[in-house]
Amino acid sequence: MGRPPRTDLAQSSVTFLRRFSGNSPLRPSRASALRRVAAVLLLAAAVALPCAVLYRAAVDATAPVYIPRARRPLLQWDPPPPPPVEVSAEDGDADPFPTDDLDSEDLRLELVLQEASMDNKTVILTTLNAAWASPGSVIDLFIDSFHRGVGTSSLLRHLVIVAFDWKAYKRCVKIHPYCFALTTEDVDFSEEKRFQTTGYLEMMWKRLDFLRLVLEKGYSFVFSDADIMWFRNPFPFFYSEGDFQIACDHYVGNAMDLRNVANGGFNYVKSNDQSIEFYKFWYSSRFRYPGYHDQDVFNFIKHDPYTADIGLTIKFLSTSYFGGICEPSRDLNKVCTMHANCCIGLQSKIHDLRIMMEDWRNYMSMPPSLKSFGALSWRVPQNCSLSLLSP
Ligand SMILES: *[C@@H]1O[C@H](CO)[C@@H](O)[C@H](O)[C@H]1NC(C)=O
Ligand SMILES: *[C@@H]1O[C@H](CO)[C@@H](O)[C@H](O)[C@H]1NC(C)=O
Repeated sequence: MGRPPRTDLAQSSVTFLRRFSGNSPLRPSRASALRRVAAVLLLAAAVALPCAVLYRAAVDATAPVYIPRARRPLLQWDPPPPPPVEVSAEDGDADPFPTDDLDSEDLRLELVLQEASMDNKTVILTTLNAAWASPGSVIDLFIDSFHRGVGTSSLLRHLVIVAFDWKAYKRCVKIHPYCFALTTEDVDFSEEKRFQTTGYLEMMWKRLDFLRLVLEKGYSFVFSDADIMWFRNPFPFFYSEGDFQIACDHYVGNAMDLRNVANGGFNYVKSNDQSIEFYKFWYSSRFRYPGYHDQDVFNFIKHDPYTADIGLTIKFLSTSYFGGICEPSRDLNKVCTMHANCCIGLQSKIHDLRIMMEDWRNYMSMPPSLKSFGALSWRVPQNCSLSLLSP
């Protein structure tokens, strides 16, 4: 996607001035006339451009108009990009966040998607911040689940880990071939984000905006939070005709029923006009429901007539296959994924994810007869709380 013309007027008049000042080959009177014209042009630009900025800001603050960040023109008087995240002495590597160059970010994204993609332009995406990146933490459990799941280890070849900060990026490149550093301008996404805090909201919305970009690049994706264990390949369990398929905190028994309570942590989205329009609408709805996160807003706008107008086919995924702590996938012979949703606090989450992994390993080591007998059930939740809250 090309960047729209920048401050063309100002830029061309600057060039114009430069070209005709100093040792001008033109006769003095001609040169000074041109200089006057250039000065007028510059003045016009100086007046017009801030107006455009003000207009943009006003639109941003009040109306639900969607202006993609990456496509905002870089104005000359934009503040300089923030300094790179602090790097300790042992970290000598190059800065993966060239914040001043959106085109290079775009190119990096294009390349990593291409490399990780399946033949049919489908990728698996997860996001990572420093809090979830340390050894033995969430990301290790996530990767480990692919190795221990049924038919899941080959899917790692299609997984792109999207790092929100430098620490997460550094950790990613140590453990996985496909990492993408997402530039995050002025917000620090590196600490543990407790559910419903401002930082948490920012991170969730940034993620949604990023997923829209992936769709626009023509890639379909399975997005999975890293606190979801993959025990079976989910692709055979998706609906062939759904544009947007999403896991649930609470499943009412029918994939089309809008009363299903969706969980934004796991979804399968096909790239097409409907899904792209829907992601734009979803993001813009943020301004109609300030203070809510993307998952809440989804659960509001799923009823919006505009969602039906878009023509997006929504399918809710059954918790029998795509379960979590809110509503476990009871049968270990069926489970695809288990999410540490309905869980507050990183330590509780890690504790219960480890129990889940142990349960799975015990299940996998059982003889087939015992497996099909359903002799084993989950020992979670233990430390996770069961209230219908799902970070
Ligand atoms: C893309 O390929 C995967 C792996 O072969 C398959 O499971 C999935 O259904 C395909 N998706 C589409 C939309 O054809
Ligand atoms: C989990 O809960 C147990 C029992 O309440 C407690 O002793 C333990 O410290 C908790 N562990 C974590 C990691 O929160």
